[in-house]
Amino acid sequence: MTEKTLMLIKPDGVQRAKVGEIIQRIENKGYQIVDMKMLTPTKALLDVHYAEHVGKPYYPSLVDYMTSGPVVVMIGEGTNIVAGWRTLMGETNPTKAAPGTIRGDFGREWPQEAMMNVVHGSDSVASAQREISLWFD
Ligand code: TYD
Ligand code: MG
Repeated sequence: MTEKTLMLIKPDGVQRAKVGEIIQRIENKGYQIVDMKMLTPTKALLDVHYAEHVGKPYYPSLVDYMTSGPVVVMIGEGTNIVAGWRTLMGETNPTKAAPGTIRGDFGREWPQEAMMNVVHGSDSVASAQREISLWFD
């Protein structure tokens, strides 16, 4: 089934110049990038995007990380892209993420205050709709 998902290249991915390689992996998989922009997220945006994480011990560090510089914001489209993009990303904890995944190949060792795991992807079709309307009005 053709789906859309929200994909972010987080500040560490931009600062370490991994944008081209990450986009290449997306396109190699056959996914289409149908919209794209760069911006530095505000705390107000992150409080909505990461609503279920507000108040967690790592949340202040997550906000510091995500506001530390520009992110690439993309809408991807493709067959089963919501789950498929999460497979390409690898698991949340970059220390555990498998080699060959973006987080496994480029994520920083964890623990630190916040996991620096390079990319974001929506976790369900419903989350994707919510996140796309949040980041793209
Ligand atoms: P989560 O939605 O659980 O992971 P994912 O990005 O794989 O959907 O968490 C959102 C982000 O919060 C995650 O990418 C990194 C950060 N985070 C931490 O820094 N420490 C933690 O213990 C958790 C659960 C998340
Ligand atoms: Mg999540």
